[in-house]
Amino acid sequence: MMAAVLKYVGKIFESQNYNQSMSKKEQASRRGFLRNMAAATAALAVGNVAMAAEEKNVWVQSIRSKNGFDANDQINIALIGAGGMGVQDTITALQVPGIKLVAVCDLYDGRLKEAKERWGSAIATTRSYKEILARKDIDAVIIATPDHWHQQISIDSLKAGKHVYCEKPMVHSIGEGPAVIKAQQESGKIFQVGSQGVSSLGNEKAKELLKDGAIGELNYAEGFWARHSPLGAWQYPIPDDASPATLDWEAFISNTTKRPFDKTRFFRWRNYTDYGTGMSGDLFVHLFSSLHFITDSFGPNKVYSSGGLRYWKDGREVPDVLLGTFDYGVQKAHPAFNLSLRCNFVDGTSGTTFLKLVGSEGSMDITWDDVTVKRNTEVTSDDPFFLEQMRKAGKEVGGRKRILPPQEFKFSAEKGYKGGPYDHFVNFFEAIRKNGKVAEDAVFGYRAAAPALLCNDSFRQDKAIIWNPEKMELVKK
Ligand SMILES: NC(=O)c1ccc[n+]([C@@H]2O[C@H](COP(=O)([O-])OP(=O)(O)OC[C@H]3O[C@@H](n4cnc5c(N)ncnc54)[C@H](O)[C@@H]3O)[C@@H](O)[C@H]2O)c1
Repeated sequence: MMAAVLKYVGKIFESQNYNQSMSKKEQASRRGFLRNMAAATAALAVGNVAMAAEEKNVWVQSIRSKNGFDANDQINIALIGAGGMGVQDTITALQVPGIKLVAVCDLYDGRLKEAKERWGSAIATTRSYKEILARKDIDAVIIATPDHWHQQISIDSLKAGKHVYCEKPMVHSIGEGPAVIKAQQESGKIFQVGSQGVSSLGNEKAKELLKDGAIGELNYAEGFWARHSPLGAWQYPIPDDASPATLDWEAFISNTTKRPFDKTRFFRWRNYTDYGTGMSGDLFVHLFSSLHFITDSFGPNKVYSSGGLRYWKDGREVPDVLLGTFDYGVQKAHPAFNLSLRCNFVDGTSGTTFLKLVGSEGSMDITWDDVTVKRNTEVTSDDPFFLEQMRKAGKEVGGRKRILPPQEFKFSAEKGYKGGPYDHFVNFFEAIRKNGKVAEDAVFGYRAAAPALLCNDSFRQDKAIIWNPEKMELVKK
Protein backbone atom coordinates (compact mmCIF):
# COMPACT_ATOMS: atom_id res chain seq x y z
CA MET A 1 0.00 0.00 0.00
CA MET A 2 2.74 2.43 1.08
CA ALA A 3 4.84 1.64 -1.97
CA ALA A 4 1.84 2.16 -4.24
CA VAL A 5 1.09 5.56 -2.70
CA LEU A 6 4.75 6.57 -2.97
CA LYS A 7 4.84 5.57 -6.62
CA TYR A 8 1.58 7.42 -7.26
CA VAL A 9 2.70 10.67 -5.63
CA GLY A 10 6.06 10.43 -7.37
CA LYS A 11 4.41 9.93 -10.73
CA ILE A 12 2.05 12.85 -10.50
CA PHE A 13 4.88 15.19 -9.64
CA GLU A 14 7.08 13.84 -12.40
CA SER A 15 4.25 14.23 -14.89
CA GLN A 16 4.37 17.98 -14.39
CA ASN A 17 8.04 18.44 -15.18
CA TYR A 18 8.76 19.75 -11.69
CA ASN A 19 12.27 18.53 -11.83
CA GLN A 20 13.32 20.17 -15.08
CA SER A 21 14.14 23.58 -13.72
CA MET A 22 15.63 22.42 -10.43
CA SER A 23 19.21 22.26 -9.30
CA LYS A 24 20.54 18.93 -7.97
CA LYS A 25 20.20 20.24 -4.39
CA GLU A 26 16.60 21.29 -5.00
CA GLN A 27 15.80 17.96 -6.61
CA ALA A 28 17.25 16.11 -3.65
CA SER A 29 15.25 18.13 -1.19
CA ARG A 30 12.11 17.74 -3.33
CA ARG A 31 12.59 14.00 -3.28
CA GLY A 32 12.81 14.27 0.50
CA PHE A 33 9.54 16.14 0.66
CA LEU A 34 7.84 13.69 -1.70
CA ARG A 35 9.11 10.72 0.24
CA ASN A 36 7.97 12.15 3.54
CA MET A 37 4.72 13.42 2.15
CA ALA A 38 3.95 10.03 0.66
CA ALA A 39 4.65 8.35 3.97
CA ALA A 40 2.62 10.85 5.90
CA THR A 41 -0.29 10.81 3.49
CA ALA A 42 -0.43 7.10 2.88
CA ALA A 43 -4.14 6.84 3.53
CA LEU A 44 -5.47 10.39 3.35
CA ALA A 45 -4.00 13.80 2.75
CA VAL A 46 -4.12 14.24 6.51
CA GLY A 47 -0.89 13.05 8.03
CA ASN A 48 0.21 12.49 11.51
CA VAL A 49 3.00 14.56 12.92
CA ALA A 50 3.24 12.76 16.22
CA MET A 51 6.51 11.05 16.78
CA ALA A 52 8.57 10.87 19.90
CA ALA A 53 6.44 12.75 22.40
CA GLU A 54 6.02 9.79 24.69
CA GLU A 55 9.33 8.24 23.73
CA LYS A 56 11.12 11.37 24.87
CA ASN A 57 9.80 10.68 28.29
CA VAL A 58 11.12 7.16 28.59
CA TRP A 59 13.76 6.87 31.26
CA VAL A 60 16.66 4.88 30.04
CA GLN A 61 19.68 3.79 31.99
CA SER A 62 22.69 5.87 31.12
CA ILE A 63 26.09 6.71 32.49
CA ARG A 64 26.03 9.33 35.23
CA SER A 65 26.26 12.68 33.41
CA LYS A 66 28.76 15.36 34.26
CA ASN A 67 25.89 17.21 35.90
CA GLY A 68 25.98 14.46 38.49
CA PHE A 69 22.67 12.94 37.44
CA ASP A 70 21.74 9.46 36.46
CA ALA A 71 18.93 9.07 33.92
CA ASN A 72 16.54 8.02 36.69
CA ASP A 73 17.55 10.50 39.39
CA GLN A 74 15.05 12.85 40.94
CA ILE A 75 15.52 16.52 40.11
CA ASN A 76 14.53 19.02 42.80
CA ILE A 77 13.20 22.29 41.50
CA ALA A 78 12.19 25.67 42.90
CA LEU A 79 9.91 28.28 41.38
CA ILE A 80 10.92 31.94 41.45
CA GLY A 81 7.96 34.15 40.51
CA ALA A 82 4.76 32.26 41.29
CA GLY A 83 2.26 34.22 39.18
CA GLY A 84 0.26 33.05 36.17
CA MET A 85 3.06 31.53 34.09
CA GLY A 86 5.22 30.34 36.96
CA VAL A 87 2.32 28.25 38.28
CA GLN A 88 1.57 26.88 34.79
CA ASP A 89 5.23 26.06 34.21
CA THR A 90 5.49 24.26 37.53
CA ILE A 91 2.31 22.26 36.95
CA THR A 92 3.75 21.18 33.57
CA ALA A 93 7.22 20.44 34.97
CA LEU A 94 5.75 18.25 37.70
CA GLN A 95 4.06 16.07 35.06
CA VAL A 96 7.52 14.93 33.98
CA PRO A 97 8.44 11.85 36.04
CA GLY A 98 11.05 12.32 38.75
CA ILE A 99 10.59 16.04 39.31
CA LYS A 100 9.96 17.36 42.82
CA LEU A 101 9.04 20.90 43.84
CA VAL A 102 10.94 21.92 46.95
CA ALA A 103 10.50 25.67 47.30
CA VAL A 104 8.64 28.69 45.94
CA CYS A 105 9.69 32.33 45.98
CA ASP A 106 7.52 35.37 45.30
CA LEU A 107 7.40 38.99 46.42
CA TYR A 108 3.66 38.88 47.13
CA ASP A 109 2.50 36.87 50.16
CA GLY A 110 -0.78 35.91 48.47
CA ARG A 111 1.15 33.91 45.86
CA LEU A 112 3.17 32.11 48.55
CA LYS A 113 -0.04 31.20 50.41
CA GLU A 114 -1.54 29.87 47.15
CA ALA A 115 1.61 27.83 46.51
CA LYS A 116 1.27 26.04 49.87
CA GLU A 117 -2.44 25.43 49.21
CA ARG A 118 -1.65 24.00 45.76
CA TRP A 119 1.48 21.99 46.46
CA GLY A 120 1.32 21.28 50.19
CA SER A 121 2.65 22.86 53.37
CA ALA A 122 5.97 21.02 53.09
CA ILE A 123 6.97 23.44 50.31
CA ALA A 124 9.38 26.09 51.61
CA THR A 125 8.31 29.62 50.74
CA THR A 126 10.24 32.87 50.79
CA ARG A 127 10.26 36.40 49.42
CA SER A 128 14.00 36.22 48.72
CA TYR A 129 15.29 34.35 45.67
CA LYS A 130 18.75 34.39 47.22
CA GLU A 131 17.46 32.06 49.97
CA ILE A 132 16.42 29.63 47.22
CA LEU A 133 19.84 29.80 45.58
CA ALA A 134 21.61 29.16 48.91
CA ARG A 135 19.84 25.80 49.34
CA LYS A 136 21.96 22.81 48.40
CA ASP A 137 18.96 20.54 47.79
CA ILE A 138 17.70 22.54 44.79
CA ASP A 139 19.03 21.43 41.39
CA ALA A 140 17.11 23.69 39.04
CA VAL A 141 15.02 26.85 39.14
CA ILE A 142 12.14 28.09 37.03
CA ILE A 143 12.36 31.89 36.71
CA ALA A 144 8.94 33.36 35.91
CA THR A 145 9.26 36.84 37.34
CA PRO A 146 8.51 39.98 35.32
CA ASP A 147 11.04 40.55 32.53
CA HIS A 148 13.21 43.11 34.37
CA TRP A 149 14.38 40.41 36.79
CA HIS A 150 15.27 37.69 34.26
CA GLN A 151 18.89 38.68 33.71
CA GLN A 152 19.93 39.16 37.34
CA ILE A 153 18.21 36.07 38.73
CA SER A 154 19.48 33.92 35.80
CA ILE A 155 23.08 34.98 36.37
CA ASP A 156 22.84 34.56 40.14
CA SER A 157 21.24 31.12 39.71
CA LEU A 158 23.89 29.89 37.26
CA LYS A 159 26.63 31.18 39.54
CA ALA A 160 25.01 29.33 42.43
CA GLY A 161 25.26 26.11 40.38
CA LYS A 162 21.58 25.78 39.46
CA HIS A 163 20.19 24.71 36.11
CA VAL A 164 17.83 27.39 34.84
CA TYR A 165 14.54 27.45 32.97
CA CYS A 166 13.97 31.19 32.37
CA GLU A 167 10.77 32.52 30.91
CA LYS A 168 10.88 34.54 27.71
CA PRO A 169 12.06 37.08 26.77
CA MET A 170 15.47 36.06 28.09
CA VAL A 171 16.37 39.66 28.92
CA HIS A 172 14.69 43.04 29.35
CA SER A 173 16.96 45.19 27.17
CA ILE A 174 19.39 44.58 24.33
CA GLY A 175 22.54 45.20 26.38
CA GLU A 176 21.68 42.49 28.94
CA GLY A 177 22.14 39.38 26.77
CA PRO A 178 25.91 38.82 26.64
CA ALA A 179 26.26 38.57 30.44
CA VAL A 180 23.71 35.74 30.54
CA ILE A 181 25.51 33.89 27.73
CA LYS A 182 28.80 34.30 29.60
CA ALA A 183 27.29 33.06 32.86
CA GLN A 184 25.85 30.01 31.12
CA GLN A 185 29.15 29.18 29.45
CA GLU A 186 31.15 29.64 32.62
CA SER A 187 28.76 27.63 34.77
CA GLY A 188 28.39 24.70 32.36
CA LYS A 189 24.80 24.40 33.59
CA ILE A 190 21.75 23.81 31.42
CA PHE A 191 19.95 27.04 30.62
CA GLN A 192 16.72 27.05 28.68
CA VAL A 193 14.45 29.93 27.71
CA GLY A 194 10.70 29.36 27.92
CA SER A 195 9.39 29.82 24.38
CA GLN A 196 7.86 26.40 24.52
CA GLY A 197 6.80 26.32 20.85
CA VAL A 198 10.30 25.35 19.75
CA SER A 199 9.91 21.94 21.39
CA SER A 200 6.50 21.29 19.84
CA LEU A 201 5.75 18.68 17.24
CA GLY A 202 4.34 21.42 14.98
CA ASN A 203 7.63 23.36 14.95
CA GLU A 204 9.68 20.18 14.48
CA LYS A 205 7.52 19.13 11.53
CA ALA A 206 7.72 22.59 9.94
CA LYS A 207 11.52 22.49 10.20
CA GLU A 208 11.63 19.10 8.52
CA LEU A 209 9.21 20.16 5.76
CA LEU A 210 11.13 23.34 5.00
CA LYS A 211 14.37 21.35 4.74
CA ASP A 212 12.64 18.84 2.48
CA GLY A 213 11.64 21.58 0.02
CA ALA A 214 7.91 21.51 0.73
CA ILE A 215 7.47 25.22 -0.04
CA GLY A 216 10.48 25.75 -2.33
CA GLU A 217 12.80 28.60 -1.42
CA LEU A 218 11.73 30.71 1.56
CA ASN A 219 11.23 34.39 0.70
CA TYR A 220 8.72 35.74 3.23
CA ALA A 221 7.24 35.01 6.63
CA GLU A 222 4.50 36.62 8.65
CA GLY A 223 2.94 36.30 12.05
CA PHE A 224 0.44 37.99 14.29
CA TRP A 225 -1.23 38.00 17.67
CA ALA A 226 -4.79 39.30 17.83
CA ARG A 227 -6.70 39.93 21.06
CA HIS A 228 -9.66 41.92 22.26
CA SER A 229 -10.24 41.52 26.00
CA PRO A 230 -9.08 43.28 29.17
CA LEU A 231 -7.09 40.24 30.30
CA GLY A 232 -5.60 39.82 26.82
CA ALA A 233 -4.61 43.49 26.98
CA TRP A 234 -2.88 42.95 30.35
CA GLN A 235 -5.49 44.51 32.64
CA TYR A 236 -4.93 41.86 35.28
CA PRO A 237 -6.91 41.83 38.56
CA ILE A 238 -5.28 43.55 41.52
CA PRO A 239 -5.77 41.65 44.82
CA ASP A 240 -7.78 43.50 47.49
CA ASP A 241 -5.09 42.98 50.11
CA ALA A 242 -2.24 44.41 47.97
CA SER A 243 -0.25 46.78 50.20
CA PRO A 244 3.34 47.52 51.24
CA ALA A 245 2.77 45.01 54.05
CA THR A 246 1.72 42.10 51.81
CA LEU A 247 4.23 42.62 49.00
CA ASP A 248 7.86 43.71 48.76
CA TRP A 249 7.66 46.79 46.54
CA GLU A 250 11.20 47.92 47.36
CA ALA A 251 12.64 44.60 46.19
CA PHE A 252 10.51 44.74 43.03
CA ILE A 253 11.95 48.11 41.98
CA SER A 254 15.42 47.61 43.47
CA ASN A 255 17.05 47.19 40.03
CA THR A 256 15.12 49.98 38.26
CA THR A 257 13.61 53.47 38.72
CA LYS A 258 12.76 54.31 42.33
CA ARG A 259 9.07 55.15 42.79
CA PRO A 260 6.53 55.20 45.63
CA PHE A 261 4.43 52.06 46.17
CA ASP A 262 2.14 51.44 43.18
CA LYS A 263 0.09 48.24 43.15
CA THR A 264 -1.03 48.80 39.56
CA ARG A 265 2.56 48.80 38.38
CA PHE A 266 3.29 45.69 40.44
CA PHE A 267 0.39 43.58 39.17
CA ARG A 268 0.12 45.08 35.65
CA TRP A 269 3.87 45.32 35.10
CA ARG A 270 3.63 44.48 31.35
CA ASN A 271 2.22 47.97 30.69
CA TYR A 272 5.31 49.77 31.99
CA THR A 273 8.71 49.91 30.33
CA ASP A 274 10.72 49.63 33.56
CA TYR A 275 9.46 46.06 34.03
CA GLY A 276 7.90 44.73 30.79
CA THR A 277 9.03 44.52 27.18
CA GLY A 278 5.78 45.49 25.46
CA MET A 279 3.97 43.50 22.82
CA SER A 280 7.11 42.51 20.99
CA GLY A 281 8.99 41.25 24.06
CA ASP A 282 5.90 39.48 25.32
CA LEU A 283 4.54 38.02 22.09
CA PHE A 284 6.68 38.60 18.98
CA VAL A 285 9.46 36.78 20.82
CA HIS A 286 7.51 33.50 20.52
CA LEU A 287 7.27 33.99 16.75
CA PHE A 288 11.00 34.76 16.50
CA SER A 289 11.82 31.68 18.53
CA SER A 290 9.71 29.41 16.34
CA LEU A 291 10.89 31.04 13.12
CA HIS A 292 14.56 30.79 14.10
CA PHE A 293 14.15 27.19 15.20
CA ILE A 294 12.41 26.21 11.95
CA THR A 295 14.82 28.05 9.64
CA ASP A 296 18.01 27.75 11.73
CA SER A 297 18.33 31.50 11.37
CA PHE A 298 20.47 33.76 13.55
CA GLY A 299 17.97 36.59 13.12
CA PRO A 300 17.33 39.71 11.07
CA ASN A 301 19.80 42.43 10.01
CA LYS A 302 17.29 45.24 10.02
CA VAL A 303 14.40 45.99 12.36
CA TYR A 304 11.72 48.63 11.95
CA SER A 305 8.48 49.08 13.84
CA SER A 306 5.53 51.41 14.12
CA GLY A 307 2.31 51.40 16.10
CA GLY A 308 0.37 53.37 18.68
CA LEU A 309 -1.91 53.38 21.68
CA ARG A 310 -5.40 53.19 20.17
CA TYR A 311 -7.74 51.95 22.85
CA TRP A 312 -6.36 50.74 26.21
CA LYS A 313 -5.56 54.24 27.50
CA ASP A 314 -5.21 53.14 31.11
CA GLY A 315 -1.92 54.90 31.83
CA ARG A 316 0.22 52.33 30.03
CA GLU A 317 3.50 53.34 28.44
CA VAL A 318 3.42 50.86 25.56
CA PRO A 319 1.41 50.63 22.32
CA ASP A 320 -1.61 48.35 21.92
CA VAL A 321 -1.13 48.07 18.16
CA LEU A 322 2.37 47.25 16.95
CA LEU A 323 3.77 46.36 13.53
CA GLY A 324 7.30 45.18 12.86
CA THR A 325 9.16 44.55 9.61
CA PHE A 326 12.42 42.62 9.59
CA ASP A 327 14.98 41.97 6.85
CA TYR A 328 16.76 38.63 7.06
CA GLY A 329 19.91 38.56 4.94
CA VAL A 330 21.44 35.51 3.28
CA GLN A 331 22.73 33.10 5.92
CA LYS A 332 24.29 29.66 5.73
CA ALA A 333 20.95 28.12 6.63
CA HIS A 334 18.59 30.17 4.46
CA PRO A 335 18.21 32.65 1.58
CA ALA A 336 17.35 36.31 2.21
CA PHE A 337 13.73 36.78 3.22
CA ASN A 338 11.42 39.33 4.81
CA LEU A 339 9.32 39.04 7.92
CA SER A 340 6.24 40.99 8.89
CA LEU A 341 4.78 40.78 12.41
CA ARG A 342 1.82 42.50 13.99
CA CYS A 343 0.06 42.56 17.29
CA ASN A 344 -3.32 44.11 17.94
CA PHE A 345 -5.07 44.25 21.31
CA VAL A 346 -8.13 45.94 19.79
CA ASP A 347 -8.72 43.33 17.14
CA GLY A 348 -12.48 43.19 16.69
CA THR A 349 -12.31 40.31 14.26
CA SER A 350 -10.42 37.59 15.98
CA GLY A 351 -8.43 36.39 18.92
CA THR A 352 -5.66 34.23 17.70
CA THR A 353 -2.02 33.82 16.81
CA PHE A 354 -0.49 32.79 13.55
CA LEU A 355 2.83 31.99 11.85
CA LYS A 356 3.17 31.51 8.11
CA LEU A 357 6.22 30.78 5.98
CA VAL A 358 6.01 31.51 2.27
CA GLY A 359 8.28 30.07 -0.40
CA SER A 360 8.57 30.03 -4.17
CA GLU A 361 6.31 26.99 -4.44
CA GLY A 362 3.94 27.19 -1.53
CA SER A 363 3.37 28.15 2.06
CA MET A 364 3.15 26.61 5.52
CA ASP A 365 0.76 27.63 8.28
CA ILE A 366 2.34 26.55 11.54
CA THR A 367 0.97 26.00 15.03
CA TRP A 368 2.43 23.99 17.90
CA ASP A 369 0.14 21.09 17.05
CA ASP A 370 -0.13 21.12 13.28
CA VAL A 371 1.29 22.31 9.99
CA THR A 372 -0.70 22.97 6.83
CA VAL A 373 1.28 23.01 3.59
CA LYS A 374 -0.30 24.69 0.58
CA ARG A 375 1.39 24.26 -2.77
CA ASN A 376 0.77 26.33 -5.84
CA THR A 377 1.00 24.15 -8.92
CA GLU A 378 -1.19 26.03 -11.35
CA VAL A 379 0.15 27.84 -14.40
CA THR A 380 -2.80 29.78 -15.75
CA SER A 381 -1.70 33.32 -16.60
CA ASP A 382 -1.85 34.67 -20.15
CA ASP A 383 0.65 37.39 -19.33
CA PRO A 384 3.45 37.28 -21.96
CA PHE A 385 6.23 38.10 -19.45
CA PHE A 386 5.05 35.37 -17.11
CA LEU A 387 4.78 32.84 -19.96
CA GLU A 388 8.29 33.72 -21.12
CA GLN A 389 9.68 33.19 -17.61
CA MET A 390 7.93 29.84 -17.32
CA ARG A 391 9.30 28.75 -20.71
CA LYS A 392 12.80 29.78 -19.60
CA ALA A 393 12.34 27.75 -16.44
CA GLY A 394 11.39 24.77 -18.59
CA LYS A 395 7.88 24.56 -17.18
CA GLU A 396 4.83 23.58 -19.23
CA VAL A 397 2.47 26.47 -19.83
CA GLY A 398 -0.06 25.31 -22.34
CA GLY A 399 -1.35 22.42 -24.33
CA ARG A 400 -3.13 19.55 -22.76
CA LYS A 401 -4.53 20.02 -19.26
CA ARG A 402 -2.58 18.21 -16.59
CA ILE A 403 -3.69 16.14 -13.68
CA LEU A 404 -2.77 17.98 -10.51
CA PRO A 405 -1.46 16.50 -7.27
CA PRO A 406 -3.09 17.34 -3.93
CA GLN A 407 -2.30 20.95 -3.11
CA GLU A 408 -3.00 21.06 0.60
CA PHE A 409 -1.58 18.77 3.25
CA LYS A 410 -2.35 18.96 6.93
CA PHE A 411 -0.03 17.30 9.41
CA SER A 412 -1.63 17.06 12.84
CA ALA A 413 -0.35 15.88 16.19
CA GLU A 414 -1.76 12.62 17.40
CA LYS A 415 -4.74 12.81 19.76
CA GLY A 416 -3.55 12.99 23.35
CA TYR A 417 -0.36 14.88 22.46
CA LYS A 418 0.73 16.61 25.64
CA GLY A 419 1.91 19.68 23.76
CA GLY A 420 4.91 21.96 23.33
CA PRO A 421 5.03 23.14 26.98
CA TYR A 422 5.35 19.55 28.23
CA ASP A 423 7.95 18.64 25.58
CA HIS A 424 9.92 21.77 26.46
CA PHE A 425 10.26 20.64 30.07
CA VAL A 426 11.03 17.07 29.01
CA ASN A 427 13.89 18.47 26.88
CA PHE A 428 15.13 20.60 29.77
CA PHE A 429 15.18 17.78 32.30
CA GLU A 430 16.60 15.29 29.80
CA ALA A 431 19.46 17.67 29.09
CA ILE A 432 20.17 17.84 32.84
CA ARG A 433 19.96 14.09 33.34
CA LYS A 434 21.90 13.08 30.25
CA ASN A 435 24.28 16.00 29.99
CA GLY A 436 22.60 16.95 26.73
CA LYS A 437 21.81 20.20 24.98
CA VAL A 438 18.66 22.26 24.68
CA ALA A 439 17.58 24.02 21.50
CA GLU A 440 16.71 27.25 23.27
CA ASP A 441 19.91 27.98 25.20
CA ALA A 442 21.19 31.44 26.10
CA VAL A 443 22.58 32.16 22.62
CA PHE A 444 19.35 31.08 20.95
CA GLY A 445 17.31 32.94 23.57
CA TYR A 446 19.25 36.14 23.01
CA ARG A 447 18.96 35.89 19.23
CA ALA A 448 15.19 35.51 19.60
CA ALA A 449 14.86 38.29 22.19
CA ALA A 450 17.10 40.76 20.36
CA PRO A 451 14.84 41.61 17.38
CA ALA A 452 11.86 41.82 19.74
CA LEU A 453 13.68 44.27 22.02
CA LEU A 454 15.03 46.22 19.04
CA CYS A 455 11.47 46.51 17.79
CA ASN A 456 10.69 48.50 20.94
CA ASP A 457 13.83 50.60 20.46
CA SER A 458 12.87 51.26 16.83
CA PHE A 459 9.39 52.35 17.90
CA ARG A 460 10.74 54.70 20.58
CA GLN A 461 13.52 56.13 18.42
CA ASP A 462 11.35 56.21 15.28
CA LYS A 463 14.05 54.72 13.09
CA ALA A 464 15.23 51.44 11.63
CA ILE A 465 17.85 49.58 13.67
CA ILE A 466 20.70 47.60 12.11
CA TRP A 467 21.76 44.43 13.90
CA ASN A 468 24.45 41.86 13.24
CA PRO A 469 22.61 38.63 14.17
CA GLU A 470 25.64 36.38 13.89
CA LYS A 471 27.89 38.45 16.14
CA MET A 472 24.88 39.61 18.17
CA GLU A 473 25.94 43.26 17.97
CA LEU A 474 24.30 46.55 17.07
CA VAL A 475 25.68 48.08 13.88
CA LYS A 476 26.23 51.85 13.89
CA LYS A 477 25.04 53.55 10.68
N1 LIG B 1 6.04 31.14 27.73
C1 LIG B 1 4.85 31.67 27.77
O1 LIG B 1 3.95 31.29 27.03
C2 LIG B 1 4.56 32.77 28.77
C3 LIG B 1 3.23 33.13 29.05
C4 LIG B 1 3.02 34.11 30.01
C5 LIG B 1 4.08 34.74 30.65
N2 LIG B 1 5.35 34.38 30.31
C6 LIG B 1 6.50 35.05 30.96
O2 LIG B 1 6.53 34.66 32.33
C7 LIG B 1 6.95 35.73 33.15
C8 LIG B 1 5.90 35.99 34.23
O3 LIG B 1 4.70 36.38 33.63
P1 LIG B 1 3.31 36.19 34.38
O4 LIG B 1 2.24 36.40 33.39
O5 LIG B 1 3.31 34.93 35.15
O6 LIG B 1 3.34 37.43 35.39
P2 LIG B 1 2.67 37.51 36.83
O7 LIG B 1 2.62 38.93 37.20
O8 LIG B 1 1.40 36.72 36.84
O9 LIG B 1 3.71 36.75 37.78
C9 LIG B 1 4.96 37.28 38.10
C10 LIG B 1 5.22 36.95 39.57
O10 LIG B 1 6.57 37.29 39.89
C11 LIG B 1 6.59 37.86 41.19
N3 LIG B 1 7.82 38.65 41.30
C12 LIG B 1 8.08 39.89 40.80
N4 LIG B 1 9.37 40.22 41.02
C13 LIG B 1 9.93 39.19 41.69
C14 LIG B 1 11.21 38.94 42.22
N5 LIG B 1 12.21 39.83 42.10
N6 LIG B 1 11.41 37.77 42.88
C15 LIG B 1 10.44 36.86 43.02
N7 LIG B 1 9.18 37.03 42.53
C16 LIG B 1 8.94 38.19 41.87
C17 LIG B 1 5.30 38.64 41.29
O11 LIG B 1 4.90 38.85 42.60
C18 LIG B 1 4.33 37.72 40.52
O12 LIG B 1 3.68 36.83 41.38
C19 LIG B 1 7.16 36.93 32.22
O13 LIG B 1 8.51 37.06 31.90
C20 LIG B 1 6.37 36.56 30.98
O14 LIG B 1 6.90 37.12 29.79
C21 LIG B 1 5.61 33.40 29.42
